[in-house]
Amino acid sequence: MKKIIITLDGFSSCGKSTLARQLAKELNYVFIDSGAMYRAITLYFIREHIDCNNTEQVKRALSEVNLSFEYNPLTGQSDMYLNDENVELLIREMVVSERVSEVAALKEVREFGVAQQQQMGIKKGIVMDGRDIGTTVFPDAELKIFVTADPAVRVERRFKELYEKNPAITIEEVKRNLEMRDYVDSNREFSPLRQAADAVVLDNSDLTKAEQLQIALQWAREKM
Ligand code: C5P
Repeated sequence: MKKIIITLDGFSSCGKSTLARQLAKELNYVFIDSGAMYRAITLYFIREHIDCNNTEQVKRALSEVNLSFEYNPLTGQSDMYLNDENVELLIREMVVSERVSEVAALKEVREFGVAQQQQMGIKKGIVMDGRDIGTTVFPDAELKIFVTADPAVRVERRFKELYEKNPAITIEEVKRNLEMRDYVDSNREFSPLRQAADAVVLDNSDLTKAEQLQIALQWAREKM
């Protein structure tokens, strides 16, 4: 069987990472959560008070950022590391979610992220999820999945996830953040969120995780 590249793109909180992680596990492929990379860069920008309108500051900050993924035996998943610090939990916090779309829209940040992501796919055998993976990062990927879900379902899922860590969070806050990110991600100049012309659509609003995995696995095997 030949090794392929599988891309999953879509709006925020569609369950892309969950599906991508499951697919990679089943196929014994590498899983890369590209959103985690933009979140880690954003965390660095917040800590260093980087002004997104100041290109020199942005370039300097990026030259100081070193991103890596490392396996965590406790969770069985890969954690995001920023300059050798495990930031997996910090990057999921609302302060980062509030700023990430602004940072991820910058030309320099996109070039930085895309170059590293393309490098990770050189040997194929990779499942990567994000916003521009099938359009910009791997335009020649063998399988491109565009994941969608009903907006109310997405808000509910994200709320449940965040509420477990922070009971002070409100559903309104989550809804506002998802709408804002989807808008900025879809309307930015560089690498906007788009469905690739050759992507297959997977609407998982009424599917269980196991059901959506079976559909995606079937598609993957047809390409191998
Ligand atoms: O996937 P996740 O929701 O964690 O991504 C966080 C943010 O990172 C997105 O809202 C988007 O602004 C940015 N992102 C991006 N391109 C990607 C993946 C994520 O711009 N390929």
